[in-house]
Amino acid sequence: MCGIAGYLGPRKAVDVVFDQLKRLEYRGYDSAGIAFPERQDIRILKKAGKLSELGRLLEDTETSDVRTAMGHSRWATHGAPTDTNAHPHFDQTENVSIIHNGIIENYLELREELAAKGHHFHSQTDTEVAAHVIGDEYDKGVPLEEAVRLAVKRLRGAYALVVMSRTEPGKLVATRNASPLILGFGEHENMLASDIPALLPYTREVMVLEEGDIAVLTDHSVRIMDGDSREVPIKAMTIEWDIAAAERGGYEHFMLKEIHEQPDVIRQTLAGRIDDKNQIRFEQIFGEHVWHEIDRVNIIACGTAYHAGLMGKYLFEKLLRLPCDVYYSSEFRYGDPVLSPKSLAIFISQSGETADSLAALRLCKEKRIRTLGIVNVIGSSIARECDRTIFTQAGPEISVASTKAYTAQVLVLTLLALYVAQVTEAPGIRVPSVVEELKGLSEKAKACLNTEDVVLALAEDVRNAPLCFFLGRGADAYVGMEGALKLKEIAYIPTQEMPAGEMKHGPIALIQPGVVSIFGATNDAVLEHSSIREKVISNMQEVKARGGTIVAITTEEDNTVERVAEYVVKIPKCESEFLSALLSVIPLQLLSYHVARLNGCEIDQPRNLAKSVTVE
Ligand code: G6P
Repeated sequence: MCGIAGYLGPRKAVDVVFDQLKRLEYRGYDSAGIAFPERQDIRILKKAGKLSELGRLLEDTETSDVRTAMGHSRWATHGAPTDTNAHPHFDQTENVSIIHNGIIENYLELREELAAKGHHFHSQTDTEVAAHVIGDEYDKGVPLEEAVRLAVKRLRGAYALVVMSRTEPGKLVATRNASPLILGFGEHENMLASDIPALLPYTREVMVLEEGDIAVLTDHSVRIMDGDSREVPIKAMTIEWDIAAAERGGYEHFMLKEIHEQPDVIRQTLAGRIDDKNQIRFEQIFGEHVWHEIDRVNIIACGTAYHAGLMGKYLFEKLLRLPCDVYYSSEFRYGDPVLSPKSLAIFISQSGETADSLAALRLCKEKRIRTLGIVNVIGSSIARECDRTIFTQAGPEISVASTKAYTAQVLVLTLLALYVAQVTEAPGIRVPSVVEELKGLSEKAKACLNTEDVVLALAEDVRNAPLCFFLGRGADAYVGMEGALKLKEIAYIPTQEMPAGEMKHGPIALIQPGVVSIFGATNDAVLEHSSIREKVISNMQEVKARGGTIVAITTEEDNTVERVAEYVVKIPKCESEFLSALLSVIPLQLLSYHVARLNGCEIDQPRNLAKSVTVE
């Protein structure tokens, strides 16, 4: 998730923008750049690496007279983090320059269209293509804001864009769709940024730009228009938060912020990967013939990523009938695994730097096994070393306990399984109808955030529990394992997690009053005359009979679990049962969060844990 900043006014604009970028550092970045008017041109300074690298370039440049500037800290999504791929980018004629946060989904089509008209591109980014589209309109002689208005009609995807032109130097034009952009108003100065904290040292009067609106900023005025050029009234609000709270978007912890980001993460992860015919598109993964050849999949990962891998196994085996094993990275390396030369090894990692996973990857490379990464951080070691990598596009995850990365990993695995079904013409799956469901998943994830009331009541019970079971069947059991990991990691509550049917074979001996059992019961598929949910309800009865507290996570139309469960958490139903199970992770994440909060635990940096474990 990139950081955007811009300033017009009496202060030293480059210094202000650099300072604003520093305040956006928590969003994560791998390169940064600044643009400002210089004589008749636009000057761009940009550099891969930390902000201090850009700082060094700025030290050697005289900018004290500059009164308009825009800056960007990049978190790569298209193309490696290099100087050339860093923003700002120019259009073809260098008349306009832009910074961008988000993903332009149709950038390849646009790039081809413009290349046919003689445009040359220097970077691999979707942003440079957007710059050329804006330049293409601007060259027709319209004002900058009109060029932006016309250009965005040609763009598909998520974006927050800020544009500067050579011929209108005291002006910045900004627009957005699905990516954040905040305007800030001061005395004879105006500014913008992708988040509130960057603006707070300069003003507390801010406004969130509405999706599709276009803002025209000078040092003394701000005008906002909608997509049809109609004037939109400015409604500023005064921010009372302190700067630290503002970084977390007003949330008390990054973990809670990241849980709440999941509806957006779902949209971002799907962005650019579904076409108009509900077919899956993946760039840069193996050619179609390779998928016909693969006879087995091994998924290798640690922690939360391992749990996402279990969902991958469920998907590959159920949808594709393709055998799939899931390994802990640390075990895979030393377990001397039997590997078919036609197999595919998938490495899942948020950070892309986990030492155990990296070592297992190198072992596969030595054995000449095909490798595919599912990674969140572009430019990370696993992303670079895998034969092919799919990026999860979840944005930087700051809280140690992983939440949104898990959802994005499972979604990428779902897209991958559907893609393989598509190219191998797997029988029995209707890819377009599952894709249609995926399109509605973000809204359903939003509804899952509304379970907070029952989750809070439940947290009061769980906070004192000596032990908490997480149980379910099929995909519900796998999601339960992730729910259990969250509760251990941040609330330090002992947990036991297993398929619900296994409980009676031993672990049920641990049930006594006070022990809480959380059952995932989202699957109502009928097998041999009874539904999976009915089987889960029988398992609930067994626990209840021994004095345990029963919690059920079920879908909203169900009213059967109420007979047994003390707490019922209802989430929206999806036709594909693995998607209902995936959604159930959201109340489980919220539960861990609230238990930890009630027990006064350090949420974003839990004891003994690190976000990225780079030792074996
Ligand atoms: C650490 C973190 C976990 C994470 C695991 C794998 O143990 O504490 O939250 O799931 O590493 O990390 P990765 O970056 O490879 O997904």
